[in-house]
Amino acid sequence: MSHTTSADAVKFAYWVPNVSGGLVVSTIEQRTDWSLDYNQRLAKAAENAGFEYALSQIRFTAGYGAEYQHESVSFSQALLQATTKLKVLAAILPGPWHPAVVAKQIATIDHITNGRIAINVVSGWFKGEFTAIGEPWLEHDERYRRSEEFIRALKGIWTQDNFTFKGDFYRFHDYTLSPKPVQKPHPEIFQGGSSRAARDMASRVSDWYFTNGNTPANLKAQIDDIREKAAKNGHEVRIGVNAFIIARDTEEEAKAVLDDIIAHAHVEAVNAFGDAVKQAGNASPEGEGNWARSTFEDLVQYNDGFRTNLIGTPQQIAERIVELKAVGVDLVLAGFLHFIEEVEYFGKKVLPLVRELESRRQKAVA
Ligand SMILES: Cc1cc2nc3c(=O)[nH]c(=O)nc-3n(C[C@H](O)[C@H](O)[C@H](O)COP(=O)(O)O)c2cc1C
Repeated sequence: MSHTTSADAVKFAYWVPNVSGGLVVSTIEQRTDWSLDYNQRLAKAAENAGFEYALSQIRFTAGYGAEYQHESVSFSQALLQATTKLKVLAAILPGPWHPAVVAKQIATIDHITNGRIAINVVSGWFKGEFTAIGEPWLEHDERYRRSEEFIRALKGIWTQDNFTFKGDFYRFHDYTLSPKPVQKPHPEIFQGGSSRAARDMASRVSDWYFTNGNTPANLKAQIDDIREKAAKNGHEVRIGVNAFIIARDTEEEAKAVLDDIIAHAHVEAVNAFGDAVKQAGNASPEGEGNWARSTFEDLVQYNDGFRTNLIGTPQQIAERIVELKAVGVDLVLAGFLHFIEEVEYFGKKVLPLVRELESRRQKAVA
């Protein structure tokens, strides 16, 4: 992978399957497992294949095809113990987590792993889960107001001594965290969401913005909006997009896998998931949240990953990844049907082509 400089290289993350049922709500066979053993083997395979990040998921309760779920921070720590290069993103949900606890936990993991932990702040879409654990369910934009305070508090704790903060949701008085994290200025902070509130938050405080799968044109509109606002705020934010990748030697094979996944969709679970997320998404005042325009087929993959269309031959996929980079995407977050074997195939067949195309482009520009 010596074809290109790292600044220009698209980065890759994969979804950690720490939740049962895989990444598609379908009864098709998925050679993927939510166990620790499978996940540790996957993490090693992924770092060897060229993946830089792994994204864990947080769910506190079952729902929509995800019967069992391992907790994200402790599971991330277990993956870090099994690897040497991979950075693992622990998903964090404000509400159940308090920023003081997260700051302390993550600082400790940062020391144990010499700077390989990061977090993904998610703002919540699953009302049933909040109700089940007795957490108040805030309305859409209030969830983001809380997440923004959460991130500001975290950054303050991680970078300042005698930190004082007077927010509507969180308060700190002359608080000094010791030790501070190893990573400077602090572990990277990712966030997920597409609504206006999500984009506005990204343009003010997040290091990375993760969004659902989409077409290059739709992604460009979101990215331009965020980067324009971020520039006004003097803030820089990088962009990650979800994609469910189906790479096969022929396009026919890849498309047949997609057809099979959809033909075996768990219809009841997909429809129930659709109802829940559309309520959460439409609740954003402008109606532009994740899933606001998702079809039944889109919803078979939790985060609209088919829409990004990384489905085809290694060459087709590599070309589309370079197109994503051209509209401003910095990172592709990948889901797979059979994780370990497909991560290996991706590393061998797709990634070298991406690097080659990137390097050709760079030469053309130079
Ligand atoms: C890549 C990505 C990962 C996410 N991971 C989680 C998660 O692990 N747990 C969770 O409850 N929500 C997760 N979310 C949901 C978001 O935090 C957010 O609630 C959702 O995208 C709706 O936001 P919006 O209305 O701003 O579009 C994730 C979203 C994205 C894009």
